[in-house]
Amino acid sequence: MSHEISSSRTLHRLIYASRQAFAADMNPDDEIDALIRASIRNNRAASITGLLLVHDGWFVQTLEGPAEAVMTTYQRILNDPRHRESRVVSAGPASGREFGDWNMCARRFSAADDAILDTLAQRQAFDPAKLTDRSALRLLKAVRGIQDRTALSA
Ligand SMILES: Cc1cc2nc3c(=O)[nH]c(=O)nc-3n(C[C@H](O)[C@H](O)[C@H](O)COP(=O)(O)O)c2cc1C
Repeated sequence: MSHEISSSRTLHRLIYASRQAFAADMNPDDEIDALIRASIRNNRAASITGLLLVHDGWFVQTLEGPAEAVMTTYQRILNDPRHRESRVVSAGPASGREFGDWNMCARRFSAADDAILDTLAQRQAFDPAKLTDRSALRLLKAVRGIQDRTALSA
């Protein structure tokens, strides 16, 4: 096995933040539904897991999976006109997956998500422009942790 093949199979994690940019003739809820459907289908096929946070005009997403799949997926997302000003907050090899499947957190998606996003808004802690690699992962893991706990107690 060549070095390139083995390194492309190494687990990578990428986190980016971008601004929502829905055209005037788009319905944001419909667009988000459509991109979730595409993500579930494509990410499962590409062994990509992670979390997409949709909040306050921003997207913050982490993608985990084989390096090549992460890069290909991010390139595709980057070309999507439904957002702009994407900034890679962190990218590199990861020792293990923090997200066991692909998920998202968005308003109106579930009551639990609404509660999570209300808390973020109240704390005024949500400023993706200031996210660092550590704080971004901490934020996404916290959201995921709350989602998991709510699912268990439901
Ligand atoms: C913020 C954002 C996040 C996205 N996340 C993903 C993703 O995780 N996986 C994915 O396949 N597509 C994602 N998309 C959608 C892609 O840009 C693209 O529309 C889609 O992959 C095309 O899939 P299709 O060719 O199967 O229709 C995202 C788009 C946006 C705007």
